[in-house]
Amino acid sequence: MKGSKLECVKCGGDFPLDLVNARCQDCDEPLEVRYDLESVPRDWFKTPRKGPFFERYAPFYSYLDTNSALSLGEGQTSLIRSNRIKGKIGIKELFFKNETQNPTWTFKDRGTALSLQNAFSLGYRRIGTLSSGNMGASVAAFGSRAGMDTFILLKANTPREKIDALAIYGVKAIRVSGNYGDVYNRTSEMGKLFDVYFSISDEPMRVEGYKSLAFETYEQMDCKPPDYVALPVGSGGLCRGVLKGFEELHEVGFIDRVPIFIGVQTQGCSPTVDAYEKGKDRIEPFKDPLTLDHVLENPYPPSGNQVIRKIRSNGGVLLKVSNEEILDAELLLAEEGIFAQPASATALAGIIRCAEKGLIPGDARVVTVVTGSGLKYPPVLEKFGLSPISTSLDQLAHTLETLIK
Ligand SMILES: Cc1ncc(COP(=O)(O)O)c(C=O)c1O
Ligand SMILES: [Zn+2]
Repeated sequence: MKGSKLECVKCGGDFPLDLVNARCQDCDEPLEVRYDLESVPRDWFKTPRKGPFFERYAPFYSYLDTNSALSLGEGQTSLIRSNRIKGKIGIKELFFKNETQNPTWTFKDRGTALSLQNAFSLGYRRIGTLSSGNMGASVAAFGSRAGMDTFILLKANTPREKIDALAIYGVKAIRVSGNYGDVYNRTSEMGKLFDVYFSISDEPMRVEGYKSLAFETYEQMDCKPPDYVALPVGSGGLCRGVLKGFEELHEVGFIDRVPIFIGVQTQGCSPTVDAYEKGKDRIEPFKDPLTLDHVLENPYPPSGNQVIRKIRSNGGVLLKVSNEEILDAELLLAEEGIFAQPASATALAGIIRCAEKGLIPGDARVVTVVTGSGLKYPPVLEKFGLSPISTSLDQLAHTLETLIK
């Protein structure tokens, strides 16, 4: 579409929309899609629509030729109102955006879906990513459906079970030794050399895919914005995408204010929060990161600086929480019937901290993004260890009697 482009998030420099796997050479900062928001019809949300999110919210993706056959039904996840834990936390209107319902059980599918649309429309037949976890699984599934040759770059120490989860799709998995940040930077060169579209953590189309989470939430809240949105922050792609979605709704005039964002990292890897708390503009590599389920273990997040800039201008907050707080939050989510992976529970842990400090008023409408399923991280099952009681059929009634409250 005419006038659409990529723009450096820092210096505002222009780049062509069809540039793939690039950052601004001057600033080494990510690029972001800019397009004509003027053409978004003011009554777009008056008609309920079906289909993939890039069709339901087509005017917000007007710069892209899309093909619904490549969709796996990503997005369209439930927004669930808290029943049981809102009283404990002291927030009357707490909602869970349940991203565990995605095709590969995490929000990553929204980003992968849009990267894939872009790759396909640009004529790529090879797709890849750099991830040992959720993004790898997501790109493997979508790449498979599109019949693309799929390449997953893994950290050298990626455990067997994570590799096994990719095997079913018949991808080409490569363990790469060396620093994660260096490998991230090399994907651009490799992509060019071998015509592979690398859908890495904060590539512009991935961020565009995450926008859809904001549009759905807005619709599910009767076309009103929540007051607060809390989410986990790793590379920063998710945070940037959801915030961009609400900012676009605001720019077009659908909402009169952008929700306040609460970005949460874990104490085991908090480069973005640490720089933010020190009042710095630039993150520094985090030494010896160690997190509960590793998906937030990015020592030098590529969108870290941009997340700091955006959270500051949004009036939001970045904070870090301990493993103990994360596991407590995971148990609270389970009380609501939601089985989240520890990384996802960080967002709720962040909300609890903010509520305790009086940073969130009790009558605020608060959304926590439950980013991925607990089944993605089986070791946690052992942590909560349940030992079943053994009994015989004859003794069953008696055993039940002892258990009935
Ligand atoms: C379950 C889960 N939640 C949150 C995140 C953080 O997202 P981002 O890296 O886009 O900041 C990730 C990233 O891998 C994830 O897998
Ligand atoms: Zn720049």
